[in-house]
Amino acid sequence: MKDGILKDVMKMGGDIVNSERFAKAKNVPHHSKDGSIAAHSLETACYALLLARWLNRHGVEVSEEDVVRASLLHDIGMTEDDVFLSRSSEKAHTHPLEGARIAREEFGANETQMDAIMQHMWPCCTMVPPHHAAGWVLTTADKLCSLNDVKRIFRRNPRQWGIEGSTL
Ligand SMILES: [Fe+2]
Ligand SMILES: [Fe+2]
Repeated sequence: MKDGILKDVMKMGGDIVNSERFAKAKNVPHHSKDGSIAAHSLETACYALLLARWLNRHGVEVSEEDVVRASLLHDIGMTEDDVFLSRSSEKAHTHPLEGARIAREEFGANETQMDAIMQHMWPCCTMVPPHHAAGWVLTTADKLCSLNDVKRIFRRNPRQWGIEGSTL
């Protein structure tokens, strides 16, 4: 990921990245197990900012700050022990709600950011889509990053997955 984008993410969300809550997210594993919720959230914020800038250049108004802050916080609900320790099917439904609560209480999230966090699992765990462009950017960036995770898992052991010689 380009340094410039990461710098811009830090300008808009440095308080989140440097918080105790985000430090906790560094110890919560994400899909690929060798990655954390913190690393995934930073990657998502970078992709989301690139996507938001592209949309802004093409006439779709999206707040870069809403996109970055919601992205950094979208999986922060996983840092709550009762969410983290629950079954994965339950976790998938509860972490967006917990995340929105934490975003509001600890980081002063606005309505757009909270909506983006609450609906980011659409259409997997909620049938309600995001209500703002920022939410659509987040849910798209999140899925792109999850695809990256799947690629990392496959690449680690291509024989296990039957994809030896694949260009994946
Ligand atoms: Fe999530
Ligand atoms: Fe995510």
